Amino acid sequence: MERIHITDVAPRDGLQNQRALLSTEVKVELIRRLAAAGLRRVEATSFVSPKAVPQMADAAEVLAGIAELSGLQPSVLVPNMKGLARAQAAGAREVAVVLSATDTMNRRNIGMSLDEATRVSEETLQAALGAGLAARAYVAVAFECPFEGRVDRARVVDLAQRMALAGAREVVIADTIGAAAPAQVSRLLADLRDTLPRERTAVHFHDTRGFGCANAWAALEAGVRRFDASTGGLGGCPFAPGAAGNLATEDLVLMAQQSGFETGVHLDGLAQAIDFMSQQLGRPLGGRCMSWYRQRSGGSAAAPRS
Ligand code: COA
Ligand code: ZN
Repeated sequence: MERIHITDVAPRDGLQNQRALLSTEVKVELIRRLAAAGLRRVEATSFVSPKAVPQMADAAEVLAGIAELSGLQPSVLVPNMKGLARAQAAGAREVAVVLSATDTMNRRNIGMSLDEATRVSEETLQAALGAGLAARAYVAVAFECPFEGRVDRARVVDLAQRMALAGAREVVIADTIGAAAPAQVSRLLADLRDTLPRERTAVHFHDTRGFGCANAWAALEAGVRRFDASTGGLGGCPFAPGAAGNLATEDLVLMAQQSGFETGVHLDGLAQAIDFMSQQLGRPLGGRCMSWYRQRSGGSAAAPRS
């Protein structure tokens, strides 16, 4: 079976957007459960301004708390050189920079123009590589921007190329507000084909309009094998109005496995992580497949497979 690679972004994309300030111990326990479910890659936290995102203020402590988890390759989001320095000091081995495809989104998210954000992302990637770290780069609002509307595909291709040339091992094409439909995913990935090798292309979808899995399928058909997803569908960006939860890891895993791809992730383990986060946040969580899954496993999400 062909393998797909999932980066679970619940600890960062998911938790940055919760009203509740969760303790470091809860975040570490979430990541422990994700690792136990078979996930090898997680976006563990972000080294951003604690004034901008108080939920991520304990980034160094979270990273320290998961250092002993064997087999886990955590990545952390950094918006600038200061974030990289903080991440390095905390022992990070992999970072992700976040560039948005429009001027307004960069200004709202990281206080920079598009040009400045592009330069800072390049500089941060080069410095990370120079320091021996692995790096990914997001191209956020790659389909539609909440402020500027539809995004020109040629611009996304250009920014992706610049991020790859600056050293991003993986460029993550992100539908930050969940506005894309599968045909748009197919078209953008077709345009990217000659610029960015498929093995360095990742996609990041939100399920705002219910198209998360359909978009993931379009990406699979286009040859992409690297996906961001978020356990429980937790997610959203505090600076992008209208962004709802991410494509749920459990929906992606079930769709991929049933379609003949290997993920290395098992639903029982994800269900345990979802139950834990539901308790912590005091509300039901879970992707679209979870009600089916719970019925099948006799009401308890954590029940063993029949
Ligand atoms: N981590 C912690 N603090 C940081 C920082 C970082 N990566 N980068 C800058 N700062 C601090 C500065 O030292 C300064 O501190 P001071 O007020 O005590 O002097 C303060 O933040 C402001 O810095 P400045 O360079 O003027 O930037 P800004 O106010 O325009 O903020 C960012 C820029 C990038 C730090 C901020 O917008 C941010 O953290 N955004 C993150 C957004 C995010 O996480 N979005 C969701 C994920 S995509
Ligand atoms: Zn996102």
